[in-house]
Amino acid sequence: MTLWPRSLATRTLLTLLLGLAFVQAAGLLIHALDRIGLQRQADLRTAGIRTASLYRTLVATSIAERPAELKELELGDGITATLADAPPTDPPDPTPPEIAQTIRLNMAYVPIRSRNRPRDIQMRGLPWDGAVTIGLKFPDRGWLVLELPIPKPRPWHSPTFLLAFVLMTVAAALLSLWAVRQLIGPVATLAAAAERLGRDVNSPPLPETGPTEVARAAAAFNTMATRIRRFVQDRTFLLTAIGHDLRTPITRLKLRAEFIEDDDLRDKFIADLDELDTMLTATLAFGRDAADAEPATAIDLGALLRTVLDEVADARPDAAENLAYAGPEHLTLSGRPVALKRAFTNLVTNAVKYAGGAHIILTPPDGGQTRILVEDNGPGLPPDELERVFDPFYRIETSRNRETGGTGLGLPIARNILRAHGGDVTLSNRPGGGARATVVLPA
Ligand SMILES: Nc1ncnc2c1ncn2[C@@H]1O[C@H](COP(=O)(O)OP(=O)(O)O)[C@@H](O)[C@H]1O
Ligand SMILES: [Mg+2]
Repeated sequence: MTLWPRSLATRTLLTLLLGLAFVQAAGLLIHALDRIGLQRQADLRTAGIRTASLYRTLVATSIAERPAELKELELGDGITATLADAPPTDPPDPTPPEIAQTIRLNMAYVPIRSRNRPRDIQMRGLPWDGAVTIGLKFPDRGWLVLELPIPKPRPWHSPTFLLAFVLMTVAAALLSLWAVRQLIGPVATLAAAAERLGRDVNSPPLPETGPTEVARAAAAFNTMATRIRRFVQDRTFLLTAIGHDLRTPITRLKLRAEFIEDDDLRDKFIADLDELDTMLTATLAFGRDAADAEPATAIDLGALLRTVLDEVADARPDAAENLAYAGPEHLTLSGRPVALKRAFTNLVTNAVKYAGGAHIILTPPDGGQTRILVEDNGPGLPPDELERVFDPFYRIETSRNRETGGTGLGLPIARNILRAHGGDVTLSNRPGGGARATVVLPA
């Protein structure tokens, strides 16, 4: 089972080639058996005719002249002929009766006067295994003993056979290869399209061309992609619409809050409304980002990460010396630059906000994944909060008290963006203390 290849293309090709090899072998066997049969018949016919002609020539001469006559004759093909007083005894085995019968029948092709017919015919030995010895008794006196070598049939013995065989095999193999590629190609295209869709919902549709089945699969895929796209759009639209519609009443509430007599209550009221406003602004910004789908392009991740650090350093000069980048100068991958920058800015901002510094480590692609770590030396997070902080508007109580002024949307937005790229982000605590955001992106 371990020898069985994993790829569908190789499997199909192997199955086809094995089948072809089997058919080819069976065909060759039939061809060989057929040829052997024909060659044997031809061998026996030649043996019969040769024997009969030689005998006819000799029987026509007188007993005294026969030896001289025999010397004169050219026999060829390794045939030996002798005049003897007794029938042959060597080789010891008599020729099988059906073969002897065939040779005898073939002798009838040479007409001989009935009074000259041999008075007895004896055959020894097996053809195709050496030679047949045939003894013919003259009507007057003595025997003619002929030794006819009959070699084994050679069914493959043809100068064009090997060439034809090789050409046929190569042609069949090439055709199979072509057919398999034809068959497997669409599967690879579909897989690539699905992969693209995972990274970018707005990736272009598949061409709905080619053979019926392929076109249908492509059409089904495109329909699915459209539905996913519409689903995402509808949700974003809903979010933005809600955010937008809440704006007006909040503004009204703020105006009305000004009329609250109690100073303390009024300030708290306005602070709460301000917080609500900030959250709405963040929600709207998020919706806007998702809505005007930025096209994916080739970006230099190394440069992008350094830019994020520079910009955060500008905003927080106090943390500037605690910001560092480690990794290759340049690393190109495909993505939406503005969105990705936003995702990384959120992670770095958190590290600066809650730990006073950030350390970005970029690991070049390995196994189709690029890893980016955003580490800090802060307090880290309680283990049961590591996943919950990715919920929208969720903030750990301590950060609220510290008045760090966030909305709890930074991490969910970052995750949303990275997942839309076919990647993800998770949080963990470093063994030596501090938090670590682990980002993976498809290479
Ligand atoms: N590097 C970090 N160290 C400690 N706590 C963090 C870190 N990053 C995020 N957090 C916690 O996760 C919460 C959610 O983060 P986020 O979604 O960015 O919202 P915000 O920063 O607006 O509060 C934060 O309130 C904070 O408590
Ligand atoms: Mg944040």
